[in-house]
Amino acid sequence: MNNYNKTLFDKIVALQPVVWINSKKQGAEEALSAMDITYEDILDAEKRLQRFAPLIKKLFPETDDGIIESPLVEIPYMKEEVQKTYGRDIKGTMYLKCDSHLKVAGSIKARGGIYEVLKYAEGIAINKGLLEIGDDYSKLADKEFKDFFSAYKIAVGSTGNLGLSIGIISAAMGFNVTVHMSRDAKAWKKRLLREKGANVIEYADDYSKAVEEGRKQCMGDDHAHFVDDENSKDLFLGYSVAALRLKKQLEDVGVKVDESHQLIVYLPCGVGGAPGGISFGLKHVFSDNVKCYFVEPTHAPCMLLGLITEKKSDMHIREYGIDNLTEADGLAVGSPSKLVSDLAEKLIDGVYTLHDDELFKLLAMLKDTQDIKIEPSAASSLLGPAVVGTDKNTTHICWATGGSFVPSDLYLDMYQRGKEYY
Ligand SMILES: Cc1ncc(COP(=O)(O)O)c(C=O)c1O
Repeated sequence: MNNYNKTLFDKIVALQPVVWINSKKQGAEEALSAMDITYEDILDAEKRLQRFAPLIKKLFPETDDGIIESPLVEIPYMKEEVQKTYGRDIKGTMYLKCDSHLKVAGSIKARGGIYEVLKYAEGIAINKGLLEIGDDYSKLADKEFKDFFSAYKIAVGSTGNLGLSIGIISAAMGFNVTVHMSRDAKAWKKRLLREKGANVIEYADDYSKAVEEGRKQCMGDDHAHFVDDENSKDLFLGYSVAALRLKKQLEDVGVKVDESHQLIVYLPCGVGGAPGGISFGLKHVFSDNVKCYFVEPTHAPCMLLGLITEKKSDMHIREYGIDNLTEADGLAVGSPSKLVSDLAEKLIDGVYTLHDDELFKLLAMLKDTQDIKIEPSAASSLLGPAVVGTDKNTTHICWATGGSFVPSDLYLDMYQRGKEYY
């Protein structure tokens, strides 16, 4: 660690909010060309999701066309409020990418989680000669397939939202699914999963333990698939497809992205899979014209600490006396993904951290100004435009990663807590 990082490190372990700019970032082309996952892999994932659209439409009619995608909305009143509250002039326009309102699972984790289960299902059905690529995949909803999938187990370790996405899609397809939940997982998420037909195992420990136990229970069983949030390339690719969809959405609203019109994206980070996959996709699509910042709570800055200590996934924040206790349940992770920390070191523009109080404040501000409901983890992205300096041609995208499934009474409590701070 150099001297600059030592000062930063001291602040992080003292639980102070920081903004870190990644001095090791490489140009997008250089960083991406060194990876063994490619742009073609993203296109392949998008094609797979299209093949599955008839099935998704049948199982989840609320998706309309079977493509699970979220709206992009401009949030001008929120921009004004953030400027006023934080005393910062925000240049450019501010948008919200509403994964909070993604159908089926209500969070960013629906992207990767659902994709991985679909890919697994496709693989085993093709292997057994029950399915061909050109088929109408809606047949996978038939009883014959449900019976077939019920002989296979799917397991995942989660702080909540990944569990919801894996549990909901797996149970709907007939898999025998088990979600290993960390102590941070909210009771309503466990309840909802059980209602949908998933097995839920609860741990008094943190996310790393839930993942470890899930992994252990699938080992050596050729009819079991463990969704590995810390390492999975399939999850990662499922997230990355968002970039192709975002490009189209920006074109539809006439937003240019080029050398003189930069895009800055603020992505809440837990283990790193979702923000990592999306950043990977965005850098492929927009190259150096997009900047990607990850966001973490001051009590769970695992990606940031992994990067600045250069230990990456080979550390847990508890080594530095940080307790991993935060109301941003989706971000309550002590050790970052290996896949993503290796990539983030070369690809992302920076990380900022914020206190939990700020999350509630931003959650309430968004409700008051734009009438949009999100959860605390997601609200972390809304501070980005106030802490990262920009010029007038910038399009800021705050990635709202979850929230529409939060029960109304719990949401009201969070909103009221936020109102105490502003
Ligand atoms: C609402 C929300 N936002 C962000 C994240 C971060 O995703 P990841 O853990 O892949 O970094 C999560 C993870 O569960 C989440 O639930």
